[in-house]
Amino acid sequence: MIEISGLTRRFGDLTAVEDLTLSVQSGECFGLLGPNGAGKTTTVRMLSALIAPTSGTAVLAGVDLTSPNAGERIRASIGLLAENPGLYESLTARENLEFYAELYGLTAHVAKERIAELLDLLDLAKDGDRATATYSKGMKQKVALARALLHRPKILFLDEPTSGLDPFSARRVKDVLLGLKREGTTIFLSTHNLPEAEELCDRVGILRRKLLTVGTPKELPRRLPGGGGRFRWMAGFHPDQQALARIPGAGRMRTQNSELFVELDDPGTRVPSVVAELLRQGAQITYASEEHPTLEETYLKIIGGEQ
Ligand SMILES: Nc1ncnc2c1ncn2[C@@H]1O[C@H](COP(=O)(O)OP(=O)(O)O)[C@@H](O)[C@H]1O
Ligand SMILES: [Mg+2]
Repeated sequence: MIEISGLTRRFGDLTAVEDLTLSVQSGECFGLLGPNGAGKTTTVRMLSALIAPTSGTAVLAGVDLTSPNAGERIRASIGLLAENPGLYESLTARENLEFYAELYGLTAHVAKERIAELLDLLDLAKDGDRATATYSKGMKQKVALARALLHRPKILFLDEPTSGLDPFSARRVKDVLLGLKREGTTIFLSTHNLPEAEELCDRVGILRRKLLTVGTPKELPRRLPGGGGRFRWMAGFHPDQQALARIPGAGRMRTQNSELFVELDDPGTRVPSVVAELLRQGAQITYASEEHPTLEETYLKIIGGEQ
């Protein structure tokens, strides 16, 4: 659905995005993670045909970004929630949406129904006829999301969709995105909210000018060291740590009360060896699990390692 190859954007001497190559499948939710200034917004702006790449290209729903008149055709099949909502503040939410519905070529009748449906979906129905100047940041953000969804786009781009939203608005926006995902919309979002990425995204990529790594939120942490096993036993047992240290793949360990944490090179296959050794030593085990760093720890390690 989105095939990005060698996408690069320079601003004068500064390279904001360098040689980005990535495929996003139809119906996938892909999250671009990265610190401030990493090039997330620049990437989203290139992909939604708002700014031209310096080199490289992307094909979206069959249209090459760099082909003639691509912008118009791409904008018809994508929706964009940009960094700033950019509403006409003297107009009401409904009027803003009516204005854009007309631009998208929706008939007045279809537009009316679709707008009512979206205002309802985003909890804006009762405020829909108030000037958006009087709206909170979260409400404006939701109007902007409604605008991005008016024409039922196949691909939805969202630039930090929940940044600055209160927990209720953020929850509503995430639920709407989960609903769109179930309906098969391809979603490409940028965020630095890692729990959000973990909840919404099938795969995430960590960007810092270059795409540093890509994987599922579960598998990325498994690729880095720092995982291990955690074990607990009935009180009264004291493990022989020297024997445990001889287990292949075992690293540093900490014991406290009736609990042990041991670093393992491959927790998925090494945990059983630790269990076997503890049993051999006479432990009555009450708990054993493999442990992996969180996506947040992984992110901090990858970004930190680049500095
Ligand atoms: N229009 C522009 N002109 C000059 N520099 C820009 C412009 N847009 C972005 N940049 C620079 O490109 C880099 C990436 O910015 P951006 O894509 O906004 O990052 P992010 O969204 O990840 O915070 C930053 O160093 C930013 O200052
Ligand atoms: Mg940004």
